[in-house]
Amino acid sequence: MSIDLSTKYLGLQLKNPLVVAACPLCGEVDSLRRLEEAGAAAAVLPSLFEEQIEHEEQEVNKLYEFQTESYAESLTHFPELNNYNTGTKEYLDLIEAAKKQVKMPIIGSLNGASVGGWTGYAKSMQDAGVDAMELNIYFIPTDPQQSSCKVEDQYVELVAAVKESIAVPLTVKLGPYFTSVPDVVRRVAEAGADGLVLFNRFLEPDIDLEALQVAPNLVLSSRHELRLALRWIAIVRDQTKLSLAAAGGVHFADDVIKALLAGADVVQMATALLRYGPPHLSKLLEEIERWLTEHEYASVSQMKGSLSRGNSPDPSAFERANYMKALTSFTSEFPSA
Ligand SMILES: Cc1cc2nc3c(=O)[nH]c(=O)nc-3n(C[C@H](O)[C@H](O)[C@H](O)COP(=O)(O)O)c2cc1C
Repeated sequence: MSIDLSTKYLGLQLKNPLVVAACPLCGEVDSLRRLEEAGAAAAVLPSLFEEQIEHEEQEVNKLYEFQTESYAESLTHFPELNNYNTGTKEYLDLIEAAKKQVKMPIIGSLNGASVGGWTGYAKSMQDAGVDAMELNIYFIPTDPQQSSCKVEDQYVELVAAVKESIAVPLTVKLGPYFTSVPDVVRRVAEAGADGLVLFNRFLEPDIDLEALQVAPNLVLSSRHELRLALRWIAIVRDQTKLSLAAAGGVHFADDVIKALLAGADVVQMATALLRYGPPHLSKLLEEIERWLTEHEYASVSQMKGSLSRGNSPDPSAFERANYMKALTSFTSEFPSA
């Protein structure tokens, strides 16, 4: 029996559920091609950052002012801001090159926190050819006067602003730290999102004990991080029609299968592909196919969501009851005296 691994994400028909997450592997056409050959169904390009866009716009504005004073007649030749040949231009070039050289859908990524002109780049990415957009909202509230409601209003405004400027589907990469994930999911959906990536990984700062400085450093994920996405995907799966991508800690075939059973439409992977390289994808596909065969599933769509909270034989397992069970079932490995 041949197994149908295809799945739908953001209205895109994908040949399987393995999507390469935004990471340096997706920043070059050659490696995008290798990922595709190894079996990737789609790829998210590394993000263009709010700060990067705004910095470039400021630099261009400075130049523009200088030109206004000095060479009024040259203004007619001055390029439009959005088309200016800056770092963002390279990003658009990458999209165009990727669209020419790989067949899998390419998802552009914007990463920011505040509502502003930078969101207009979603349209530029769409015009360059992306099949969908991902908006990574990475906001760290530090103002004690800013309520969680106000923070979430900002998320909603940002999603609506990006959605308004594009016709391609929009997925929103969210962090896990909300008082009520289901409420935020509902609000983001109402603002126009077509999908969600659960979850964004916040990179926590470290402290360098010699330099006595806060030191940014990137730690790759570990598998247990996936548990966070498993719970929330299983809970929101029954509450929303949005496409769902599980991200964070998807390393091996078991992880992919668990995410799909919880209700994800696709998984996004970065760490495992950075560690093991593109061939890891073909291994995963073989193992997923073997698991489906052994468990008598004919397709990925047949098994998707079959252990969501609503479909689970014990919905309370996703709630507080499971916490109590986990605590009481723990057996200490501490040697007895
Ligand atoms: C080196 C590196 C660069 C990344 N760059 C981005 C980025 O530009 N935009 C983004 O949204 N996520 C970025 N991420 C996060 C990944 O897309 C992904 O969400 C995260 O690593 C969790 O998945 P994983 O457990 O498979 O690594 C990056 C991750 C890594 C490891």
